[in-house]
Amino acid sequence: MGLLIENASQVVTCHTRGRKFKAGKFQSELGLLKNTSIYAEGGKIKWLGSKLPKILMNSVTHVIDAKGKCVLPGLIDSHTHIVFAGSRADEFSMRIKGRTYEEIAKAGGGIVSTVKAVHSTTKAKIKELARKRIISSMSFGVTTIEAKSGYGLDTKNELKMLEIINELNSEMPVDLYATFLGAHSFPKNYSRKEYIDEILYEMIPLIAKKDLATFIDAFCEKNYFSPVEIIRIFMQGMKFGLVPKLHTNQFNSIGGIEAAVRCGALSVDHLEIMKQSDINSLANSGVIAVVLPAVSYFLDIPYAPARKMIEKNIPVAIATDFNPGSAMSENIQLAMSMGVHLLKMNCEEVINAVTINAAASLGISHYTGSIEKGKQADMVMFDTPNYKDILYHFGVNQLWCTIKNGYEIKLK
Ligand code: NIG
Ligand code: FE
Repeated sequence: MGLLIENASQVVTCHTRGRKFKAGKFQSELGLLKNTSIYAEGGKIKWLGSKLPKILMNSVTHVIDAKGKCVLPGLIDSHTHIVFAGSRADEFSMRIKGRTYEEIAKAGGGIVSTVKAVHSTTKAKIKELARKRIISSMSFGVTTIEAKSGYGLDTKNELKMLEIINELNSEMPVDLYATFLGAHSFPKNYSRKEYIDEILYEMIPLIAKKDLATFIDAFCEKNYFSPVEIIRIFMQGMKFGLVPKLHTNQFNSIGGIEAAVRCGALSVDHLEIMKQSDINSLANSGVIAVVLPAVSYFLDIPYAPARKMIEKNIPVAIATDFNPGSAMSENIQLAMSMGVHLLKMNCEEVINAVTINAAASLGISHYTGSIEKGKQADMVMFDTPNYKDILYHFGVNQLWCTIKNGYEIKLK
């Protein structure tokens, strides 16, 4: 299968020039090409330029006329909890009337209520719910998704969630990366020690044995997991080949950033409440800052200091954090719009934040996240000749075509 995308008005390459991510002033660099064609074969980008060489012409089996369109790398949603059951609409409505997320959690709602729903719903049903959400996410231009467990909170149900992610990864035209988030909250009927022991000595070895996850994550927060507990959990995860990422600094700064940097985490995610010392520890650490503006919007909490972090040369990625409690939206374009208006990032920084930097936050930027020769052919086209329209014309979906692994994807 030889795919030719012909004469696109703009190709936003997000090329890396050999770097893993874009930080500081490079976060604004898009690598914009005009009136460009792209040839992909065997799932990889083989050629980019103005006129396809004759030698490749014979291999073309599918042509897409992209005149008047702009092409971007397939968008990457690098932080989601897309597998869940139940609804927290009632909780949402209570929050709108003035109760806080933390108050609701203390009163037995929050994460624990989704855990109950996951326990009482069959695997097949949860999988169908997740499948629909993935299709919806892809309709906004997403071609790679990170998805976490964390609503099981016991071995059986954590495994059930991870199995769903792995099965959907092989059944659907999207790359799903599974993250084990057993340390999301403490389940009822366990002591702290009992639950942490189950994570360390049952869940992690079993997940590694069955090869069910790439990453290990935890929620570093008051009333959840402490930095000391997280370091223990990450150390054990790493021993079994899992790569750490951390939910931290959402409501309080309690040492999560330092713990994550010490463990060599790939990313720290949330970062709504950052002390200057947190920003300093992140600077030059190579750890990606994944910011989640939809959480701030939805929970009415402060926004992550994205500008300050970019000024300190910290690579910033944006993700949806799609989950039923703190960000009930899979629309990455909405998160991008929030990136511009609420995080005060420029259009170019935002685009790099959902492509190459998002790929770096999953350790896959050598493979996807930019349009470059040799990379996986993951691309999305928008029905406009100017990439700025994706952010300028907000609230509507201008996605026109999705290419995943060299194939055009029909979503409906
Ligand atoms: O990323 N902060 C912790 N975990 C999720 C929310 C989970 C939930 O409320 O169900 C988050 O915001
Ligand atoms: Fe999250």
